[in-house]
Amino acid sequence: MPNGSSKSYCLLGFPLGVLLLFLVFSSFPMNESPHQQFFSSLTLPSLLDHTNALQSSSSTSSLSNSPPVSIKKRSNLERREEELRKARVAIRRAVKFKNYTSNEDMTYIPTGQIYRNSFAFHQSHIEMMKRFKVWSYKEGDQPLVHDGPVNDIYGIEGQFIDELENVVGGPSARFRASQPEEAHAFFLPFSVANIVHYVYKPITSPADFNRARLHRIFNDYVDVVARKYPLWNQSNGADHFMVSCHDWAPDVPGSKPEFFKDFIRGLCNANTSEGFKPNIDFSIPEINIPKGKLKPPFMGQNPENRTILAFFAGRAHGYIREILFSYWKGKDNDIQVYDNLTKGQNYHELIGHSKFCLCPSGYEVASPREVEAIYSGCVPVVISDNYSLPFNDVLDWSKFSVEIPVKQISEIKKILQEIPHDKYLQMHKNVMKVRRHFMVNRPAQPFDVFHMILHSVWLRRLNIKLPS
Ligand SMILES: *[C@@H]1O[C@H](CO)[C@@H](O)[C@H](O)[C@H]1NC(C)=O
Ligand SMILES: *[C@@H]1O[C@H](CO)[C@@H](O)[C@H](O)[C@H]1NC(C)=O
Ligand SMILES: *[C@@H]1O[C@H](CO)[C@@H](O)[C@H](O)[C@H]1NC(C)=O
Ligand SMILES: *[C@@H]1O[C@H](CO)[C@@H](O)[C@H](O)[C@H]1NC(C)=O
Ligand SMILES: *[C@@H]1O[C@H](CO)[C@@H](O)[C@H](O)[C@H]1NC(C)=O
Ligand SMILES: *[C@@H]1O[C@H](CO)[C@@H](O)[C@H](O)[C@H]1NC(C)=O
Repeated sequence: MPNGSSKSYCLLGFPLGVLLLFLVFSSFPMNESPHQQFFSSLTLPSLLDHTNALQSSSSTSSLSNSPPVSIKKRSNLERREEELRKARVAIRRAVKFKNYTSNEDMTYIPTGQIYRNSFAFHQSHIEMMKRFKVWSYKEGDQPLVHDGPVNDIYGIEGQFIDELENVVGGPSARFRASQPEEAHAFFLPFSVANIVHYVYKPITSPADFNRARLHRIFNDYVDVVARKYPLWNQSNGADHFMVSCHDWAPDVPGSKPEFFKDFIRGLCNANTSEGFKPNIDFSIPEINIPKGKLKPPFMGQNPENRTILAFFAGRAHGYIREILFSYWKGKDNDIQVYDNLTKGQNYHELIGHSKFCLCPSGYEVASPREVEAIYSGCVPVVISDNYSLPFNDVLDWSKFSVEIPVKQISEIKKILQEIPHDKYLQMHKNVMKVRRHFMVNRPAQPFDVFHMILHSVWLRRLNIKLPS
């Protein structure tokens, strides 16, 4: 395994969450200094060593035919860092002058309350579209790698892999690096859902859930790519990422947490009490993707037609829902809580007739209900503890959702009734506005969920600086 102890990149010093704001309002100057002192642990000679290793160990690599890699790579690194530097400058300028700069026509201009800083986000998205290149490692075989479920609650795994690796044409193709040296970030294209599905079979006793097999697959994969290319070692994995919605995904680096501490994970299961680190990891939405379609039918009514104050239907998965049921199931016409709908009741129609949709965590923090609510124009009521909400370094969830901690479940009705009608109307408007950021499009479209996921990686990449 590569050696994880050397800190070979420089964290630009933005602490928890809200990276974009820290990026923008932090003290690093417009023409930032090279921060040389941080780079001492990775020197040019060590880069050259990696290059030699690359040339000798992987004769089949497409890189081995390239001209003198040592010189080329050095300038590649410098060029990549220079692009990121320009992006940071542009973002700071956009914030300062409250306007964007772009050579392309804008199909959408982010404005309004749903953003923590719409100017920063807009310019950051523009810069991402213009510059960001991602390399998805080619090593490994389907179905554990380069494949994933495309439907149901883990569907985002397969959709993301497929969009990043396979879509020709379409706006997302521009993110695909043609060779690793061109990339700013590196994707490990495995699907935790597929690994669990194909490798953990049959499950006959609780011992069969042991994560050792998952750890081994992941460790082996990193080992292979870190030996073959100098990229992992250059950054200690800080520009490498995975995306997974499976409950087990937070355990992926579990066998060597220290070694993988800089590795970026996009997780649905973003429980800050279970090792989710908002300044490195990022939260992605759990989306229940119907078969053969990318979204459920839109049955959202006007606010005036939404006669149900709050609605939930789902099984008693996990302790939070049990508490919810104990207070509200079948108890109150305003707070309609079901564990099973009866024949003739239509789930999406009910959501469409509700002002607020309760989104209690299930066995894990994430639930597809936030997105279902958002799709239908129902204001999500997030009932959880320790849940880091999707894309919250860009989006201000307080403007389009209500958060209720588990210990206040008994007060749901009071809390929701106390929200003034005009505030509700504003939240409803904001929900309708934020929908585009949760939409699954194939091919992907700017600002949709695919772009939001990539933007989360882009932001974290902007936050570090590799040595050159
Ligand atoms: C990365 O580091 C590990 C161990 O420190 C080493 O085995 C591997 O060969 C290195 N990779 C490259 C490409 O030099
Ligand atoms: C903002 O930038 C756009 C495009 O560069 C330009 O057309 C527009 O006039 C600018 N608006 C303001 C208020 O400066
Ligand atoms: C998790 O949530 C509980 C209950 O709100 C809180 O007491 C605890 O501090 C939280 N832990 C973290 C790591 O945020
Ligand atoms: C609201 O309800 C009225 C009466 O049922 C109906 O005519 C109208 O189409 C509904 N509005 C929407 C947007 O569905
Ligand atoms: C839920 O409702 C459906 C349809 O009414 C019924 O077929 C099913 O058996 C019910 N499930 C449970 C667990 O009650
Ligand atoms: C989040 O993690 C903590 C610590 O493991 C756990 O107690 C809690 O149940 C988790 N939250 C949910 C909703 O699963």
